[in-house]
Amino acid sequence: MNFIDRKYWKNKRVFVTGHTGFKGGWLCIFLNLLGAHVTGYSLKPLTKPSLFYRANIAKIVKKSIIGDIRDYNKLHSAIKSSKSTILFHLAAQPLVRYSYENPVETFNTNFNGTLNILESIRNIKAIKTSILITSDKVYDISKNKIFKEDDALFGVDPYSSSKVCIEHLFYSYTKSFFSKESTQRLATVRAGNVIGGGDYSKDRLIPDIFRFLIKKQNIIIRYPKAVRPWQHVLEPLSGYLTLAQKLHNKKIKRLKQNWNFGPNISSCKSVFYISSFFAKAMKKKVIIRDLKKNNYKKETNILRLNNSKAKTYLGWHPRWSLEKSLKNILIWNKDLRNKNCLSLCRKQIKEYLKS
Ligand SMILES: NC(=O)c1ccc[n+]([C@@H]2O[C@H](COP(=O)([O-])OP(=O)(O)OC[C@H]3O[C@@H](n4cnc5c(N)ncnc54)[C@H](O)[C@@H]3O)[C@@H](O)[C@H]2O)c1
Repeated sequence: MNFIDRKYWKNKRVFVTGHTGFKGGWLCIFLNLLGAHVTGYSLKPLTKPSLFYRANIAKIVKKSIIGDIRDYNKLHSAIKSSKSTILFHLAAQPLVRYSYENPVETFNTNFNGTLNILESIRNIKAIKTSILITSDKVYDISKNKIFKEDDALFGVDPYSSSKVCIEHLFYSYTKSFFSKESTQRLATVRAGNVIGGGDYSKDRLIPDIFRFLIKKQNIIIRYPKAVRPWQHVLEPLSGYLTLAQKLHNKKIKRLKQNWNFGPNISSCKSVFYISSFFAKAMKKKVIIRDLKKNNYKKETNILRLNNSKAKTYLGWHPRWSLEKSLKNILIWNKDLRNKNCLSLCRKQIKEYLKS
């Protein structure tokens, strides 16, 4: 079943923050394929290489603005002049380990940046639908359970805590400034551990694996037993697009707008499982690093999301098994050697839409 309505997206004006990043880059390519006109707003790409430059995303969006979400005036005027009706907010400091080293920057970007987004939306009535991307890490991970949207929110590390702050900020703004009669609709969305070609971030499993493989080295990992809700980037993105369509068409009730777009439980596997898949495919070994020696901060052991709300109310569901997602990441990275990056992404989006 295809739950993305191509006709809906044709010629829509969409504002995307974080378009120079991994998920934002794929979202721009997806929206461009659907015929939407995107204005992107972010800092310069933070990694080298980057999906942004490799796929030449500046060329496929209507306008690419290099700007800081902490700069309210610049952000507000960019949103206003884009004449967008839909907004996806992905820009963030998204790394847990970096957040331990840089807590103030993390809270400033994630909390104050989102405050500026909400304040801009409140003042720009042309924005009818807004999707704010938070995280699976907003839940109380000391409880070993499969988290539902109305479970308690609780963040220990600065990144998770900053995303919990966004959820509270969102709650306050929607309750205080967007009444039932308001023509503007907003939601927060929580995805799993998102994987795919084109992620070059530090301290993330898939980029780390490919950094080893490119150098023809064995794969060294830190938390072999940590279980994560792994999902291909196209899964949550298709969820965000479906949600935006339904919110815009007023097909769902507007309150309690928090949505999990995690994978099915069968995709929640360990770091060792994922690493072994790529090691086997590339004839390499997985080596477990001694954590005591490196003084690594603790990361949660098991994290799983319940996605039944999105399935029931949006008709969204994960389309690719974990094996299919991993295979597609392998293909994407192998094909990159002799094919154009943008066309590789487009090809995978088309395959995804057919599946
Ligand atoms: N990748 C995942 O596994 C995952 C999982 C759950 C949630 N998320 C969330 O999804 C969103 C996108 O994540 P990603 O993986 O694409 O991260 P990324 O690091 O690839 O991209 C982050 C983007 O935010 C921009 N940015 C950072 N600080 C900014 C600032 N002050 N002003 C303007 N732009 C700024 C960067 O330039 C970049 O475009 C984030 O909100 C992240 O917290 C990601």
